[in-house]
Amino acid sequence: MNNHSAFPQFPKGFYFGTATAAFQIEGGWNEDGKGLSTWDTFMHQPRRIQHRSAAEAAADTYHNFQTDIDLMAELGHTAYRFSIAWARVYPEGRGRLNPKGLDYYQRMVDALLEKNITPFITLFHWDMPQALEDAYGGFSGRQGAYDYAVYAEAAVKALGDRVKHWITLNEPWEHAMFGHFLGEHAPGKTSPWAYFKVAHHELLGHGLAVERIKALWPDAQVGITLSQFPVYPSKDTPKNREAARFADLFVNRFYLDGLFRGEYPADLWKRLWPFKPPIKPGDLEIISRKMDFLGVNYYSPMFAYHDWKIPFFRAWIDRATPPGPEYIEDEILGAGPYPSGIYELAMRYKNEYGNPPVYITENGTKCEEVSDSAGVHDPYRQRYLELYLGQLARAARDGADLRGYFVWSLMDLCEWAHGYTYPMGLIYVDHATQKRTVKDSAYWYRELIQSQMKNEPDWSL
Ligand code: FCB
Repeated sequence: MNNHSAFPQFPKGFYFGTATAAFQIEGGWNEDGKGLSTWDTFMHQPRRIQHRSAAEAAADTYHNFQTDIDLMAELGHTAYRFSIAWARVYPEGRGRLNPKGLDYYQRMVDALLEKNITPFITLFHWDMPQALEDAYGGFSGRQGAYDYAVYAEAAVKALGDRVKHWITLNEPWEHAMFGHFLGEHAPGKTSPWAYFKVAHHELLGHGLAVERIKALWPDAQVGITLSQFPVYPSKDTPKNREAARFADLFVNRFYLDGLFRGEYPADLWKRLWPFKPPIKPGDLEIISRKMDFLGVNYYSPMFAYHDWKIPFFRAWIDRATPPGPEYIEDEILGAGPYPSGIYELAMRYKNEYGNPPVYITENGTKCEEVSDSAGVHDPYRQRYLELYLGQLARAARDGADLRGYFVWSLMDLCEWAHGYTYPMGLIYVDHATQKRTVKDSAYWYRELIQSQMKNEPDWSL
């Protein structure tokens, strides 16, 4: 494992940045012609999210993005991943464009470029326009894929001369699972049928958007961001191994195989056939249209065990059993961090999916922090990042095509249903005053960025 004096080294041109999402930071939820998103609606319903009044303002970047961009530059970041709120661009999700919404993102992109920070834009980070939810259930409706592609094209038309890195969707699994099956996220539905429809239509929307974006700007780099979980048997028995294999099909391979192989795992439908969504001829060709990179969000693994009580599935996911010595014990996070998982995932893409260019588009942690007059001290976060980045550099040495890494998150923000109880930023935000304070881990990250060799690293060192 690397130590403090030797920072892990990455290939030349590797991007280092942070990531955020529109709903979690912008505020200005009903300003300048913005339409409502399902998250705006959800936030105003009783008992859905914590700190709901504060979430209206979020980190207020709609009124002031410059302070944060200045901080990114000071902290040496070379890239920034953020998302566009679809309902700012199309208040009703389709039809009438709102020029003020696009103008906001244009100004922000210009401010980033001014500081030599490369923008990576996510086109959909879960904030479905409420009007489309009302019209046909958002991505539960097939029309969602087509309206999304039109929106994606409009955004890329307005910004594509300056922005070359586009992420179509953030974590389709979470949006489908938490929003449509578990009901913990907007729009708060609880149906396994909705889950699969949403997942399929999101991927269809992705494929349609890839085609439109590449037609507009052939030099654009277009990819998708998936959440990824190495899945292990919780106790190593044959039945648990089978449960882990099946859970892996469900959370990871459904998306990877659809995108890279143009097919969903046949084994999945053998058991889950009652929930199979309508798939039209040609859909999987659209979904597997060649993209330029894969974005990966990785935090922690899953552990599966055989469960006879769940018909069809026969696997359940338990996130509490540590797999080995590398697992970091963590009192705060329910699911424990496991740095080697990032290595295993990167090698899976290299060995099984044709070694596509990969960006780690999210990774990070909440942790204990102590504030005093000297700043905000978060040694655990630094150690976490150090271990994960060490494993990532190891994967690059072993030939995985890794292109960049984004810490989640730039700053403390509204963590969806958890409100402000889950600060994961490199920058502390006082949500009463919107004052920013840089945390120690951000200075450590700056040193790491500055320590990168300007030439290709010599892997023999
Ligand atoms: C991911 C989301 C991101 C944030 C982090 C902690 O699932 O993409 O918005 O909530 O988790």
